[in-house]
Formats: sequence, C-alpha cells, structure tokens
Amino acid sequence: MCKTRIILCFWTGRCIFLEKFEIIGGKPLYGEISVCGAKNAAVAIIPAALLVDGVCRIENIPDIKDVKLIIQMLRHLGANVEHIDETTISIDATNLTTHIAAYDMASRMRASYYLLGALLGRLGKAEVALPGGCNFGVRPINLHEKGFRALGATVNTVRGQVIATAEELRGNTIYLDTASVGATINIMLAAVLAKGRTVIENAAREPHIVDVANFLNTMGANVRGAGTEVIRITGVERLRGGSYSIIPDQIEAGTFMLAAAAAGGNVLVKNIIPKHMESIVSKLEEMGVKVTEYDDSIRIEREGEIHGVRIKTNYYPGFPTDMQPQMVVLMTTATGTSIMTEDVWDNRFQYIGELQRMGADIRVEGKSAIINGGRLSGAPIKATDLRAGAAMIIAGLAAEGKTVINDTHYIDRGYSCIEDRLRSIGADIERIYEV
Ligand code: EPU
Repeated sequence: MCKTRIILCFWTGRCIFLEKFEIIGGKPLYGEISVCGAKNAAVAIIPAALLVDGVCRIENIPDIKDVKLIIQMLRHLGANVEHIDETTISIDATNLTTHIAAYDMASRMRASYYLLGALLGRLGKAEVALPGGCNFGVRPINLHEKGFRALGATVNTVRGQVIATAEELRGNTIYLDTASVGATINIMLAAVLAKGRTVIENAAREPHIVDVANFLNTMGANVRGAGTEVIRITGVERLRGGSYSIIPDQIEAGTFMLAAAAAGGNVLVKNIIPKHMESIVSKLEEMGVKVTEYDDSIRIEREGEIHGVRIKTNYYPGFPTDMQPQMVVLMTTATGTSIMTEDVWDNRFQYIGELQRMGADIRVEGKSAIINGGRLSGAPIKATDLRAGAAMIIAGLAAEGKTVINDTHYIDRGYSCIEDRLRSIGADIERIYEV
C-alpha cells in the first residue's frame, strides 16, 4: 500500500497541494518489478458483485483511485464492502438500499457504466450519470443501451442520468456493430439473471472480458465463449457467493516492459500472463529489444540502438490502444521513422505536444503519428490522461536531464504507487508536492 502523505496549508489548515513527478532521466533500469491486478477487470468485477446474493471475496485488487471510487459507489448503493488485506476485499450486496448511483462519483469515471448492467440485472432498475473518464473523442454508450433494450429494458437519458428499467429481462441475440469492451461486459451483467438465453455476437475478446465471465461463472452464472466473438449466456435464478482472484494487468505489464525498453537495461517483469502480451512482445522484438518469456514473467533487455516500426492499434488480440502513448515514446528513442496509427479512438494523440516540448520529432496526419527517432531532453510537461501520463513517465526516464510531470492524478487512477515501484528498479523518480 502507498504511504499516505498529508500536507496542510499553513494559512488555512486545509490540505491543498499539487502533486508532480520529478524524474532525472537517462539512467538504465535493472531488477525485478511485479504487476498488480488488472484495473479494467477490477472496475467491472466489483460492480458485478452487485448481482450476487451472498458474500464475494475478491483477491488481487489493485490499490488505485478508480477502484477506490467504484468501491465508494457500491457502498452508496448499500453494499457492505470490507478490506480483508491490502489486495483483498469482500462484498456483500444482499441488502441494497437504492438503484440510483451517486452522481458526483459516477460522472468521474468511465466504468461507472457497469452499475447500469449490474443494477438492472439485480433490481430491474438502474439510474447512473453518463460516465466520465479519459477524454479521447466521442465515447458513446449506444451499444450498451441497444443490448439492454434487446433484453426488454426501457432506457432513457434524462438530464445527464441514464435511467434503465425492466419488468423482466429476457434473453435475446445482440449483434454489436463495434466490438466494444464496455458493451460486451455490460450486456453480460444484465443477462446472467435474465430469463432464457442471450447471445452476444461480435463480442470484444479482451482478457478482462474473460476475467469477468470467469468471476460470474465462479458465482454460479452460465457464461460460455468469453474470449471469442460469440458469448452465450443462459440465465440462472441466482448467483451465490464465492472467491475469485483478478488477472494481472496487461497494460501495466506492457507499461513496465516499455519503460525498460526505452530507458535501457535489464528488467524482469513478474506476475504476467505472457499470452496477453503477444502483440506487444512481437513489436518489441521487431524493434530489436531482447525479450525472454518465462511461465509468468518476461525479461526485457535493451543495449544500444533499436529500430522504428509501424503499428496500428486494434481490438484484442491486436495492439492495444491503451499501450499506444507508451509505444510512441519508445518510438522516439528508435533509429529511423516509426508510424503509429490509432484505430480505436478518434482523438488519442493529445499528449504529443508534451513530447514535442521534450524535443521529439513527431507530426500527426489524420489517424497516424509519424515519429522520427532521436533523443528526448527533460522538460516540464503534463499528463493529459491516464495512459498518456504513464507514457510521460517513460519519456522522463528515457530523456537526458530533469522532467517534471504535472497532473499526476490521472496516473494514480490506474497505477498503484508507480514511483515507488519504478524506484525499486533504479528509476530516479520522486513525487513532489507544491502547496
Ligand atoms: N463504441 C461505440 N458505442 C458504444 C461503445 C463503444 O461506438 O456504445 C466505440 C467507441 O467509440 C470506441 C470503440 O467502440 O471507438 C471501443 O470502445 P469500448 O467500448 O471498447 O471502450 P470502453 O469500454 O469505453 C475500455 C477501457 C479503455 C480502453 C477501451 C478499448 C475500461 C473501463 N476502459 O473502454 O481503457 O481504451 O476499452 O480497449 O475498461 C484505460 O484503461 O486507460 C482505458 C481508457
């Protein structure tokens, strides 16, 4: 668990301060670093516990802001959530007291949309604010709504609140026009207690979809085919309690692997499912980074030059959009020209201006960033969203001199104590506070 640091303002006695990361770059990384439980699985599995009549014990929970927020939202709904140890919680949602999620919390994170599917499935009614989260273009939820309607729900948005109600949910076949992660999970949540059979066609296949399905099945659901394009759910009467452990975070693992590749050195990234890392490993190897895979860890070694590559982001098992900014930073350290094409989100290059401040030679043409490799130099920059923030840390580690990263709150949404963990492999990074 991260150390709690509280600074009080001398004049007001209130806790007002800005947090920044200060990095002295240009130092290779050596040692071992362990990956936490997957954020995007945790923020879906915790709401999924609302469907369970009994106590769920969930292990390998990451200590991050988004998880704290979703836990608070469950408590507001009347669920009893207890911390058993640093990475384990128990949730008892037997006695929910409301179907209306707290606006100020729900509007701050994307994954609050999972409360819609879970509450609709459990109580037949749900009221949740339109979700917030990282801003990289239009982020509609029309496919979630299409799924709920196909199951028999009425869905309306009134003054920023999504209101879903159903007398009874009945299984149906739902084709997703886009293989949306959120819609796939949300429809699974709404369907596990519905009458009859639901089929989701063109379902997303990300590792956390399989994790949510495995959690639901452990609690007594009947979900088949998660991880393929067709998911079949046969509704059951009730879900009972049980224990489940969340998978390691694919994106955190990739972030550490790319940090080692960009800064140079030799780092063993532990607690990984190597199968989830295939698209990232294959590009690292193409660039000339040495990658050695073990059963549940991957070693990254870089000495000297690596070469530019072309990458297009895609749905799993393609190259993840959530690794795009980190990979662009690595590309700035490669010899020659690289091209990164963003094919999932409309506007996920907002951070490139920050890299240009560090001397990166990058231009954006439509959906692609064209990167001419060179050297980065330290500069004051900011995190523009969660993964871009992680990328700025990698840039700071690879750059010559001092980098100061502002707006670190984005990074804390998805990475637990990142500075302490990077320091353990030799990074010169400090969290600093400015009142
Ligand atoms: N889309 C629609 N309609 C919908 C839903 C999505 O058109 O109803 C489109 C989106 O506009 C986008 C594409 O489908 O172009 C993919 O969106 P998806 O629904 O898969 O994304 P999401 O569920 O909102 C999750 C992750 C994101 C990650 C994306 C893509 C969570 C909480 N978030 O978002 O993770 O980028 O899948 O893999 O699981 C992150 O962790 O930093 C992050 C942003």
